Amino acid sequence: MERLDKILSSQEICSRKEVKAFLKNKRIKINGEFARKSDMKIDPEGDIIEIDGEILDYRKFVYIMMNKPKGVLSASNDRNAETVIDLLPGEMKRKNLFPAGRLDKDTTGLLVITDDGGFAHDFLSPKKHVWKLYNAILDGELSEDKRKILENGIELSDGTVYKPAKVYIKNADDRRDVEIEICEGKFHQVKKMFNFVGSNVIELHRIRIGDLFLDENLKEGESRYMTDFEISSIFNRHNS
Ligand code: URA
Repeated sequence: MERLDKILSSQEICSRKEVKAFLKNKRIKINGEFARKSDMKIDPEGDIIEIDGEILDYRKFVYIMMNKPKGVLSASNDRNAETVIDLLPGEMKRKNLFPAGRLDKDTTGLLVITDDGGFAHDFLSPKKHVWKLYNAILDGELSEDKRKILENGIELSDGTVYKPAKVYIKNADDRRDVEIEICEGKFHQVKKMFNFVGSNVIELHRIRIGDLFLDENLKEGESRYMTDFEISSIFNRHNS
């Protein structure tokens, strides 16, 4: 059971302060009766909440897509550095949000932010192997031999094993601008894989997770809520 004002603000219907005006103007019904108190306790998943005659489609969790800019930490909070949560517009901020999967501080692109720990666990689980596509700009050309090494999987001298990746040369005239798809998410994985074959990554940008593409209309630093279709599309492309 939760307070009515808390539920309405969590669903972005109105702020907790605005609830009183909604009640006064008889805009809210609970199980067919006008609600009168902002602190009344209701079960958001069992009780029927109507706003202006429309039944509220209650969402327990939120799922946000961000186009992460450079220079921002993939973390919930940090004393010294700006985090991706700091970048969210005020109306999207709520408790317990965290990035589901990290991008390095200097990596840009698709990041999913949620407060649903179960979802994050499923999609980050090493058993799930969700494919993630990155665009990497290298400091030198990636030869065909090097591309094949990455596609066969590699083992670093410290024993870290990276499963076979898919590496695409987008334009035969510029073998420094490549795409790489990996089904794991180990620490600095893409950079380390390219380092293994003698290349440094100058720019790294995540384009897709599973079948979820970064919305090209999102400018760097911008976010938006994901649709149900988009949320499930993350799990479409995986090995398990
Ligand atoms: N691999 C990396 O090296 N860095 C990232 O941010 C993501 C994948």
